[in-house]
Amino acid sequence: MKNNNPLSLLPMFMSLLLLISCQTESSDNGVFSPDNNIETTFDINEKGEPYYTVKYKGNVIIDKSFMSFDFKDMPPLKDNLKIIEISKDSFDETWEMPWGEQSEVKNNYNELAVSLEEQSELKRQLTIRFRIFNDGVGFRYEFPEQDNLKEVLITDENTQFNLTGDHDVWWIPGDWDIYEHLYNECKVSEIDAISKRDHPNLASTYIPENAVNTPVTMRTKEGIYLSFHEADLTNYAGMTLKVDTENLSLTSELVGSERLGGKAKLTVPFNTPWRTIQIAEEAGDLIESKMILNLNDPNIIGDVSYFTPMKYVGIWWEMHIGKSTWDLEGSQDMTTFTEGEASAKGHGANTENAKKYIDFAAANGIKGLLVEGWNTGWDKWINTEDREGVFDFMTPYPDYNFDEVVAYAREKGVEIIMHHETSAAPRTYEKQMHEAYDFMKKNGMNSVKTGYVGKIIPKGEYHHGQWMVNHYHKVLEEAAKKKIAINAHEPIKATGKRRTYPNAIAREGLRGQEFNAWSVERGNPPNHLPTVAFTRMLSGPIDFTPGVFNIKLDGYREESQINTTLAHQLALYVVIYSPIQMVCDLPEHYMKDGKIHPMFQFIKDIGVDWQKTKVLEGQVGDYVTIARQEKGTGNWFVGGIADENKHTSNLRFDFLEDNKTYVATVYKDGPNAHWNDNPTDYKIETIDINKNSEITIDVASGGGFAISIKEK
Ligand code: NOJ
Ligand code: CA
Repeated sequence: MKNNNPLSLLPMFMSLLLLISCQTESSDNGVFSPDNNIETTFDINEKGEPYYTVKYKGNVIIDKSFMSFDFKDMPPLKDNLKIIEISKDSFDETWEMPWGEQSEVKNNYNELAVSLEEQSELKRQLTIRFRIFNDGVGFRYEFPEQDNLKEVLITDENTQFNLTGDHDVWWIPGDWDIYEHLYNECKVSEIDAISKRDHPNLASTYIPENAVNTPVTMRTKEGIYLSFHEADLTNYAGMTLKVDTENLSLTSELVGSERLGGKAKLTVPFNTPWRTIQIAEEAGDLIESKMILNLNDPNIIGDVSYFTPMKYVGIWWEMHIGKSTWDLEGSQDMTTFTEGEASAKGHGANTENAKKYIDFAAANGIKGLLVEGWNTGWDKWINTEDREGVFDFMTPYPDYNFDEVVAYAREKGVEIIMHHETSAAPRTYEKQMHEAYDFMKKNGMNSVKTGYVGKIIPKGEYHHGQWMVNHYHKVLEEAAKKKIAINAHEPIKATGKRRTYPNAIAREGLRGQEFNAWSVERGNPPNHLPTVAFTRMLSGPIDFTPGVFNIKLDGYREESQINTTLAHQLALYVVIYSPIQMVCDLPEHYMKDGKIHPMFQFIKDIGVDWQKTKVLEGQVGDYVTIARQEKGTGNWFVGGIADENKHTSNLRFDFLEDNKTYVATVYKDGPNAHWNDNPTDYKIETIDINKNSEITIDVASGGGFAISIKEK
């Protein structure tokens, strides 16, 4: 609701007056968060250069930070600027998520909008809009319609984030092509992204600067948490943050394009994405924050009930562990990136195998089935310079009877999830997608997993540049028109667009479970997900694909393994948020002594759509425990994971209702569990609990626990 009280305009007039009277450094152009803890001040210095500062509880947390733009064939927009108008506003609303971590989101902020004009012949204009929430600050640049600025090619946006100390930081390199790096923990002064160049296991990677990708999370000496990211990345290039290790400052470094000869080409008027700074006293508050979503526009695509949050199985892991292949020809093995070795293994996506997965899903209340390798083209999808026209999104391999599988799934109440691997040839995909989406709908499929493995064709474009940002956006828009939901792999990062386009259900955009299948060196260490929860997960839902029970990959690629305990795998269904959760292992690996594995009961029970979410405890990179209440049933689920150090979780259940008794089933590490030495040692306990209960759980090295809580 807008604040219409005329008295509330008073401070604005006061600050305007002040401004007119001094018009220099000291004018008071500040605005506070609704709880008064965060203050952002904007001003221009004697050269007319714009800058802002952020204070938290009275202490500077982002020091004087300048902002400017460089353009092709035009002078930079940097100095000689004058404030011509300042306006303030407040906003408070609660909106509903169609699916999500919680059903209702509060969106409450105070706003400051400063209009600037250049004191030169060009008289270029720019408005900078700040929104101050209780959990952080967002600001964006708005270029209004004006006489001397029509088309721009931005060659650099220089937004500074000047830090106040050498903070602890959790980062991945500012790769223009992929986010599938391990997180690094060090001091800001020690960030060395260049050392992460040319990673041998990434199909495309380009790290031009000592920069990091966002979200990047930090902890100050005083124990305040900061996380930098962006919101509503639309028709613009993705932002990496260049690191000045000496001056402890970050500067926006947009992803470029050699074809464009710059970073982003735009027609005025336009707005940039929001630059965001989350601020929290507890690491877990970063996870609970909904600021990124609040900085996006409300839903514009309407009802998305065609998409059902669900768990899904897939003809997927078996290719990654080398049991079968994507291509019928057996000529390529993606996991070893070799040609010709795979032919003996057999094609995974065949009719009989699909039916086996459908039977397993139906028997266990799992609603979805993903089938990769169902369509022609997989024999040429990698190691091919020109991948344009390789994939066909309508033609199944001859051993996959598409109609028969669709009919069988329908009969068993299982929905098939489509797979479109584009092999990073988006123009081929754009040509086919309309027909491909119609084909899906005709066959009762409402969601598709897309993929963009490899270097982008055409050359000179990168996964995170403006051209690809626009491609990913187009896919969302076209899919929305056809009532289709998108789960993109090798995507552009999430920036909260799921609020506007709730058919953007999940994405990869991190180093996923698949790396564990490929070899020990490539596997994710135990601290991976306790770090991801406070970094990548702040941007949005993750298709991580948890649920490996054959932890040591017995019988398959035995030189590899999952670097967690079994209980840790269960906990991921709570800790990692996604409205689709894969149950990724082979059906036979969920059996024990001829029966369904006792630990599998938790996967059967766990919800996928939530009423409420609470982070119970957490330290970035060490451990995290989250509780979520299922929409509809009111059941609670708690999941906790730890890095390589053992952890003791002291749990309280004050989120439960008064005067009620609940049955809690605890799935945890056994006394001898250890991610490497004994990952499958587990214990299951059932106890009665209530609001006042307190329990202690010992989490093993690389371990975890999962609890389902139902009213008695
Ligand atoms: C990489 C994706 O992350 C993975 O899930 C998929 O199986 C392969 N590409 C093939 O599309
Ligand atoms: Ca991937």
